[in-house]
Parts: sequence; structure tokens; C-alpha cells
Amino acid sequence: MYTILLATHSLVRWLILPSLLFAIQRAFRGWFSGKSFSPFDETVRLATVAVTNIQVSFGLVLYAISPITNYFSHNYQVAVNVGQMRFFGIEHVLMMIIAVILISIGSVKVKNKSNDKEKFKTMAIWFTLGLLLVLIAIPWPFSPVAQRPFFRPF
Ligand code: HEM
Repeated sequence: MYTILLATHSLVRWLILPSLLFAIQRAFRGWFSGKSFSPFDETVRLATVAVTNIQVSFGLVLYAISPITNYFSHNYQVAVNVGQMRFFGIEHVLMMIIAVILISIGSVKVKNKSNDKEKFKTMAIWFTLGLLLVLIAIPWPFSPVAQRPFFRPF
């Protein structure tokens, strides 16, 4: 269960990143070209939020069953001083939850705007902030804090 979930959680990042990039690219293009906010843009907005929320659900279950976070919560005094432990115990989770909150707030704000330009602008700004945080909080193989592979086999 743990191995499959970890591999799935790793893989879903490759859905989140293109979704966010596609949504942001459409948002900036719409903002500066004065296009109308189409039903397709609406679908892109909703799909992006859905994918990020699914990843949070996987993350929460992973947090509950991971030996790393388990060790972290039972040996906090020691583990908080170990970079990799602290990353998965606190930093990764906190940054990702904030990122998803930013994306979700942005999405609701887009829905409540009546002007198309404002919709694109709001989506561009909030989704970009979320993406930056996601990029920072992913344990890339080249990360100075915690390194994980680009793809984890099932
Ligand atoms: C929403 C954006 C998120 C992305 C893109 C993301 C991405 C990742 C990646 C790429 C890994 C490394 C997987 C591997 O070892 O191959 C990872 C590990 C992990 N993530 Fe996330 N994550 C996200 C959100 C969350 C959230 C919200 C939580 C918890 C509530 C969470 C909990 C964890 C845990 C506990 C691990 C390490 C598990 C272990 O190695 O035992 N993640 N995440």
C-alpha cells in the first residue's frame, strides 16, 4: 500500500505541473490579448484545482502511513534537526498545503469575477504563486534539502 501510494504521489506531480503551466499560459494569454473566458478555460480552471486536491488527499494518507513521518512524529526532538526528516515532516506538507490553498482561493475568485480580463488576471496571478511554491516544495533529485527521483517505479 505504502509503495504504491508513494509511486502514485510521485507520478501525480507530472499531472499537476503541466496542468498548472497550461492554465497559467492560457491565463496570461487571455489577460493580455483581451480574449473572452471560454467554457474551455473554465474546464482548465476546475481540472487544475481537482488534480491538486487529489494530490493533497494522497499526501494526507501518505503522511499517516509513511515510516519517515511516523518516525518524525514519534521522535520530534531528534528528527526536527535532520534535514530530510524535517522536510517531509513539516516543510513539504506546509508549503504544498499553502500552494493548494492559493490555487483554490484563486479559482474561487475567478468564478466570482464578472469581467473576463479580471478572470484571466486573477487566475494568472494566484496560479503562478501556487506553482512557484509547488516547484520549491517538490523533493527534486537536485534539491539541496531532500532528494527523490523524477519517477518512482510501482
Ligand atoms: C500538492 C502538491 C504535492 C506534490 C506535487 C507532492 C510531491 C511529492 C513528491 C514528488 C514526493 C516524493 C515521492 C518519492 O519519494 O518518489 C513527495 C513525498 C511526500 N509527500 Fe508530497 N506532494 C504534494 C503534496 C503533499 C501533501 C499535501 C502532503 C501531506 C499532507 C504530502 C506528503 C508527502 C509525504 C509524507 C511524502 C514522503 C513520503 C515518504 O517518503 O515516506 N505531499 N511528495
